[in-house]
Amino acid sequence: MTNQADVLEKIIMQRRSIRKYKDQPVDRKTLQRILNCGINAPNGMNWQAYEIRVIDNPRLLDSFTAAVVHDNPEVAQRDGFKNIFVDAPTVLFIAKSDRYELSSVDCGLLAQNIMLSAQSLGIGSCCLGSSARWLKSSPSAKPCLDKLNFSKGHELFFCIALGYPDQEKPAKPRRNDMIQYIEQ
Ligand SMILES: Cc1cc2nc3c(=O)[nH]c(=O)nc-3n(C[C@H](O)[C@H](O)[C@H](O)COP(=O)(O)O)c2cc1C
Repeated sequence: MTNQADVLEKIIMQRRSIRKYKDQPVDRKTLQRILNCGINAPNGMNWQAYEIRVIDNPRLLDSFTAAVVHDNPEVAQRDGFKNIFVDAPTVLFIAKSDRYELSSVDCGLLAQNIMLSAQSLGIGSCCLGSSARWLKSSPSAKPCLDKLNFSKGHELFFCIALGYPDQEKPAKPRRNDMIQYIEQ
C-alpha cells in the first residue's frame, strides 16, 4: 500500500524544471486548484505578502514577448523560440510586497506549493527569474508591467511557467555537503 509520505516524496522527486510544453492549455478550474494550494503555503504572520497575476491568453504572452525581444533581440535566438517564458502556455507573475523583510520567503514557499501541486496533476512548471528580469529592464515592456496591475508596494519578483510537459527530465545531481548535523 502506498502511504502519504511515499506519494509526497514521489511528487517532489519527479518535479523538474520543464522548458518544453505541449500546446494544450491548462484549464482554469485546474489552475485555480493549483493556486489554492499555493496560497495555503506558510507565510509570515499570514500577511500573504505577495500578489499573483495569471496570463493564459497566448496573444498577451506574445505581446509581452515582443516588447522584451524588441529591446533584447538575442533572447529570441534559441531554436523553436515561442515566448520569453520557456514557451509555456500559462504564466504566473509573482510580485513580492515591501511590507516586511521576509516576503521573498513567502513568495518562494508559495511557488513551491504551486509547482508541487502542478506536478501532482501532471502539469510541468519552471520558476523563471530571467523573464521577470527582462520585463523589468526593457523600456518597451513598461506597458506590460502596467497591465499586471500590481498594487502599490508590490514589485514583480519572478514568473512561473505552467503547462503540460513535452519533455522528460532526469534529476540533476544534488550535493549533500551543505548539510551538517551539529552534535555538540
Ligand atoms: C529563483 C529561481 C529562478 C530560476 N530562473 C530560471 C530561469 O530564469 N530560466 C530557467 O530556465 N530556469 C530557471 N530556474 C530553474 C532552475 O534552473 C532549476 O530549478 C535548477 O536548475 C534545478 O533543476 P530542476 O528544477 O529541474 O530540479 C530558476 C529556479 C529558481 C528557484
